[in-house]
Amino acid sequence: MKAIAIQTFGSPDGLALIDLPTPAPGPGQVLITAEAIGVGGVDAMIRRGTVQGFGFTEGHVPGSEVAGVVAAVGDGVDPSWVGRRVWAFTGTGGAYAEAAIASAEEILPIPEDLPAADAVTLGSSGPVAHYALAHARFAPGDSVLVRGAAGSIGILAVQLAAQGGASAVAVTTSSASRGERLRALGATEVLDRAGEGGRPEYDVVIDIIAGPDLPAFIGRLAPNGRMVVVGAIAGFPPADFGAAMLPKFRQSISVGLFSADTVSASDRHAVREKQFAAAVRGELRSVVHEVLPLTEAALAHRKMDDGEVFGRIVLTP
Ligand SMILES: NC(=O)c1ccc[n+]([C@@H]2O[C@H](COP(=O)([O-])OP(=O)(O)OC[C@H]3O[C@@H](n4cnc5c(N)ncnc54)[C@H](OP(=O)(O)O)[C@@H]3O)[C@@H](O)[C@H]2O)c1
Repeated sequence: MKAIAIQTFGSPDGLALIDLPTPAPGPGQVLITAEAIGVGGVDAMIRRGTVQGFGFTEGHVPGSEVAGVVAAVGDGVDPSWVGRRVWAFTGTGGAYAEAAIASAEEILPIPEDLPAADAVTLGSSGPVAHYALAHARFAPGDSVLVRGAAGSIGILAVQLAAQGGASAVAVTTSSASRGERLRALGATEVLDRAGEGGRPEYDVVIDIIAGPDLPAFIGRLAPNGRMVVVGAIAGFPPADFGAAMLPKFRQSISVGLFSADTVSASDRHAVREKQFAAAVRGELRSVVHEVLPLTEAALAHRKMDDGEVFGRIVLTP
């Protein structure tokens, strides 16, 4: 089968089309023939070599989510899955290929009316946005700031906050035109990347960016405000970022982290299933930036690096 591997960490040119034997599902696993593969911000971070501690080596096939048809099942998996159309989480890699392996616990049937590209745009990001808001104890009436709203997690967080009764939904983004697109999805205030604009303080900050500006956004928390960091697109915050909390000590602010790894697969599926159904009804929008052939994975990453992507790029074999 055709697959894309990281031959050299760094630039998108290090991604190469290779031939690999089609893998066989092991016990508890399924083999999925891909229809659509999501290109996530974390894939670009892994390719750049900035994600440490997971032991990625040259030859790594990136990609963590795929939609397609179950082609085979391993020992212990119900054979009635074969032929069913599913969304799957493949872990920290393996999805940029004509076929991918996933744990049977990490697959969910896709509604007939949901295009595969939409499934891989919502499948991971939707539950991350949902549980990040829950982790921030978001409640109706809270003002919410989504930092890094133009990506697939942010786009879902904006919609969920607006639908959940937020009193304001602010976003950071790099251009006025993106701001308008985010307003159409439920944003009510548009800030630039540095946080210029909007109100002085927010009850909830969902931060997908981290990096050197994190302390400034900690400073935007209202009394009893909660920040939840879900990503680090701009890298680690300064080592002393916790100092930004001290001037707000008497305002009882909280700064926390959220990873979907701490939510069970069945709980993530429960949210995902509802979100897929909401998307079919037109109540939740997945924003597919562009669909490209799998062979153009390097182009997809170049577009990510150039900041061109609003929503998610999807690859098709
Ligand atoms: N917590 C979890 O369970 C979980 C799960 C999956 C992924 N993640 C993390 O989520 C992140 C990727 O999320 P995503 O795919 O939604 O985002 P994304 O598409 O990679 O980026 C979202 C937006 O951030 C803005 N941005 C990019 N670089 C920036 C910078 N240096 N400073 C400020 N803004 C910047 C860009 O919008 P503008 O140009 O409009 O500003 C971009 O469109 C990764 O860090 C990944 O590790 C977390």
